[in-house]
Amino acid sequence: MKTNWYSRREFLGLGAAAAGASLAGKTIVLSSQPLQATPRPSAASDRVRFGIIGVGMQGSGLLAESIALPEVECAAACDLYDGRHALAREIAGAALPVTRRYQELLNDRTIDCIIAAVPDHWHKQIVVDAVTAGKDVYCEKPMSHSPADGVAMVDAAKRTGRIVQIGSQRVSSQICAKATEMIAHGMLGDLMLVEGWLGRNDPTGAWQYPPPPDLSPRNLDWDTWQGSVPKRPFDPNIFARWRCWKEYGTGVAGDLLVHLVSGMMFMLGLNEPPAQAMSVGGIRRWKDGRNMPDVHAVLFSYGELPVYLRLNLGTAMPETYRFQGSKGILEVTGSDLTYTPQSGKDAYPSYYANSFPRALREAYVARWHEENDPRLGQAPMPETISVRGPDMDEVRPHLWTFFEAVRSRKPVVEDAVFGHYAALACHMANESYFRKSPVTWDGASNSIKS
Ligand SMILES: NC(=O)c1ccc[n+]([C@@H]2O[C@H](COP(=O)([O-])OP(=O)(O)OC[C@H]3O[C@@H](n4cnc5c(N)ncnc54)[C@H](O)[C@@H]3O)[C@@H](O)[C@H]2O)c1
Repeated sequence: MKTNWYSRREFLGLGAAAAGASLAGKTIVLSSQPLQATPRPSAASDRVRFGIIGVGMQGSGLLAESIALPEVECAAACDLYDGRHALAREIAGAALPVTRRYQELLNDRTIDCIIAAVPDHWHKQIVVDAVTAGKDVYCEKPMSHSPADGVAMVDAAKRTGRIVQIGSQRVSSQICAKATEMIAHGMLGDLMLVEGWLGRNDPTGAWQYPPPPDLSPRNLDWDTWQGSVPKRPFDPNIFARWRCWKEYGTGVAGDLLVHLVSGMMFMLGLNEPPAQAMSVGGIRRWKDGRNMPDVHAVLFSYGELPVYLRLNLGTAMPETYRFQGSKGILEVTGSDLTYTPQSGKDAYPSYYANSFPRALREAYVARWHEENDPRLGQAPMPETISVRGPDMDEVRPHLWTFFEAVRSRKPVVEDAVFGHYAALACHMANESYFRKSPVTWDGASNSIKS
């Protein structure tokens, strides 16, 4: 019997990523790429000096990871809260210049590039100002706070020709790269449906972060922090938990869904916004005054491909993708990828024949076995293939991709256009939730339509 299934040999023949794979039972362990294990700049002696804007929960991690990379140096840090000046110096050295004014970093000609890890409502202004000042930028996800912000950011990136990379680290992950390769080689056959989910079940996961105990208008420029959002009296909870409110954040869509969307776009080789989004959800668990849903299920169409993604801050579920195709299922989680083949053929005579009278049924069954039974000793033995590698959430490879692009001027995958399209999926998910109706993206007017 002929099968269309992929054999281990065919799988291992799949190009470069397989070359670093070692076989152990049915599990392939991806060895770290040389660049990740002991990174070396592609253009030797090209030291990259970066400035960081926003040294909070994410920025502090990005700072620590970046200065651990060879030929990468932090020139200065900016934050509106002085406690984070102290934190930046604890990470990068007591002599690190610090400021509350990011324009000082943009005016510094010795700084090559900027890492921006500020709340979503500040992304656009900082990216536009940075590229206009001639700096390359790594800006955290979601790229934009609104579709209009995204359009302005793409325009600025194109106008200035600077490198812009958005911080959805799955795009630089080896596990996701392996999935990209397997899907591109047709291991799934015709792609039918993509599913993805992520859930958390604790106050921290639901963004109930403790504000820094000393926070006050004396050590924080609260007015500037609020940006162009209508001003409110100083509120430490908004400072720490800004994700809960649409004025500053983008809800679970921009915080978490964007990772699923960016990773999926990368694995499927897509670079477009969804054609349509329909979502449901609600504030089901964390009734703490937030105005963004804590449960959000979204059905997208990418062309004709249905993509069903769901986020839940009331039940913990590890981030998972499930790509469903005519030749099997590819499941991708943190460090693991599993391909389970399916033949797409009947394994037994059709049970519908049970409704035939005996003579017809027996003739059908006998013919079926004659035509379909494998020769003795030649039964197909489909293999599930597992691959294990570094967690797709690691930021180090993504930072390295950026610094290498700053040196080489080679384009990055997750540029402003990609980041804009990924963020648009999230804005569409939010709009559909608030409008209670399906929405589409109208590229001609750059707007979301019901
Ligand atoms: N890639 C990831 O996995 C990941 C994880 C967490 C957060 N993020 C993203 O990182 C960004 C920051 O999130 P966070 O959790 O670190 O927030 P945070 O509130 O902990 O830190 C943000 C910092 O930016 C500072 N800031 C705000 N406006 C500023 C301005 N105009 N100039 C200078 N400093 C300013 C604040 O004072 C604060 O210290 C968000 O876009 C978030 O979505 C990404």
